[in-house]
Formats: sequence, structure tokens, C-alpha cells
Amino acid sequence: MDIVLSGIRSTGNLHLGNYFGALRNFVKMQHEHKCYFFIADYHSLTTHPTPENLRDNVKQVIVEYLAAGLDPDVATIYRQSDLPETAELYLLLNMNAYLGELERCTSFKDKIRTQPENVNAGLLTYPVLMAADILIHKSTKVPVGKDQEQHLEMTRNFANRFNRLYKVDYFPEPHPFNFGDSLIKIPGLDGTGKMGKSDGNGLYLADEPDVIRKKVMKAVTDSGPVNPNQEMPESVKNLFTIMQIISKKDTHSFFLEHYNNCTIRYGDMKKQLAEDIINYLEPIRNKITDLSANDEYLQKVLKRGAEKARESAAKTVKEVRNIIGFKPI
Ligand code: TYM
Repeated sequence: MDIVLSGIRSTGNLHLGNYFGALRNFVKMQHEHKCYFFIADYHSLTTHPTPENLRDNVKQVIVEYLAAGLDPDVATIYRQSDLPETAELYLLLNMNAYLGELERCTSFKDKIRTQPENVNAGLLTYPVLMAADILIHKSTKVPVGKDQEQHLEMTRNFANRFNRLYKVDYFPEPHPFNFGDSLIKIPGLDGTGKMGKSDGNGLYLADEPDVIRKKVMKAVTDSGPVNPNQEMPESVKNLFTIMQIISKKDTHSFFLEHYNNCTIRYGDMKKQLAEDIINYLEPIRNKITDLSANDEYLQKVLKRGAEKARESAAKTVKEVRNIIGFKPI
């Protein structure tokens, strides 16, 4: 049995990238392993430092976790800031993380570009806090999307460095995980890159059917293939990628065949894709509505999750303090 952990930043509604990259894998694993799934609200402060949306965002994420099928009776679901032990482990790991490696991290370099007005130390040490999240429960499997690969590599470096420095075999090596062969990246609808919360290119679990129809119909494509061996442009590939994940196999091959013989009508493909997404998300969307009205239940879930998570976290911090040498004088 593995110890599995993952989390999502509480910066707004969850999109299909969060769902297929992390959440769905986790839901599938919760009955087989010891699982922790948390809401990364400390991390959200690196980009959303003001309190206005903090509570609403945390609520939205817990609602969507449960609506997507996380079961609080089997998995431990908690809020990062309910575990002060994580902050202590973060502090201790920071002593052993180097400026050079933190500055080289791709997500940090991206943030310097996208929010130059707020390049805070929390952004720089983001991977250390993430390592603390993972190592606090000595997790070995971490269901995440492709964009988190480097953070996981850094976590392994911090864990191994700790073990070497203190001559112990304490932290196990955590690895990213996805069912299937490789980590995935769900593309956005704007023809480039990945689906992201701040890029305005996302489809959200809570989106109403009409919103999904509008977004998909507006997705970028080209003017269509003119010869059978033409390479597919990125934007069209993206739609096929989403279709492959959401729609029936036959639907995907039907449109692919029409693409290959140059008879595809993107309008038809988009209509079909939108309806498939709507159907796929319908049960989740309904549960989101129900759960949103039940604050008392949500509070109960988080309270119980925090209690369970703190047991494991307190044990780790106690052992780490002991290894480092914090002892009575
Ligand atoms: P966040 O909120 O950016 O992303 C949450 C999860 O969603 C995945 N994801 C995607 N997967 C596939 N395609 C996409 N387009 C896409 N967009 C997002 C991310 O890979 C991630 O798995 N740093 C983490 C939060 C975190 C965490 C942790 C995760 C904090 N501590 C410890 C695991 C373990 C993050 O970026 O969240």
C-alpha cells in the first residue's frame, strides 16, 4: 500500500486540467491506498495575497473535491493551513534548499514574467513548501499533471539531501503518478499551451451547459485540412486531445477519419465535443450545487480531515526535530 498525496491551490474553480491531471486519478486511488488530499491555501497566497476570496475559494475547492468523488470516509481531506506542522517542516527544509536551484525552477521563471510586480519569497520557495506537503506524510505517490514534474524532482532532491546530510534513511522518494503511461497536460481552448486558471482558456467543472457550448464553439481551429498528409495544427490537436479523453472512442475516430480525408466540419466536431463534456460533467455539476448549500457538512469534513492529517504530520515533525538534533539541553 502506498501513501498517496496531492493538492490543488485554492485560487478559483477547478478546470478539466485539475480534474484529469490530479483529482480523477486520486479518486480512483482512494480505495486502494492511504490517501491524503488537501487544499493548498498557503500556496494560494503566492499569487492571491488578499483575504477577500480566501474563504470562498477554499469552500469552492472542497465542494468540488467532494463532488468529483473524493470520499471523506476513506481519504483524508484537509486544508493546508490547518496543519501548522507543514509550516515547520517547510522552515526546516528551507535551510537545505539552494537559491540557485530555486531560481532555475520553471514555475518561478514563469511567475517573474507574469507577475513582475510581486516576485515574493513565497514564489521562490514554492517548491520547498510543496516538498513539505508531500514529505510531511512520507508520501510515495503524487497524482499530478505534467506541469508538476519538476517540483516532484525537487522534492526528491530535498528528501535525498536531508537523508544524506543527517545520515538517515528517513524520507522515501515520492514520484508523480498518473494512470496510463505518462503524466498528462490538458490543453487550453485558445490553441496554445495548457488549460490554466488564469489564462481564460479553461473549462470548469462548475460551468453551466450553455457556458460550455459557447466556450467550445469559440475554440481556435484553422480553416481545415486541404490535403490528406497535412500536419495537424496545435489548436486542432488540442480539441482532439480533449475529445480523446472525454468522448467515446468511436466519436474520436469518426472525426479523426474525417480530418484525415479532409472532410471534417469543425462546427460538427465542436458541437459533439460540447455535448460530451456537458454529459460527462453533469453528475459533478449537480453535486456541486447540492454541496454548496451545506456548510455544516463541509466544516465537519475539514475538521475531521485536519485531525487525521495532524496525527501523521505531528509524528513526522517530532522525528525530524529529533534527527536534526533539537533536544533538551
Ligand atoms: P495547481 O492548482 O496549479 O494545479 C493542481 C493540479 O492540477 C494539475 N493541472 C493540470 N494537469 C493537466 N493539464 C493541465 N492543463 C493542468 N493544469 C493543472 C496540476 O499538475 C496539479 O496536479 N503546486 C500544486 C499544488 C500543490 C501540490 C502540493 C500538489 C501544492 N502542494 C503537493 C501535489 C503535492 C499546483 O500547482 O496546483
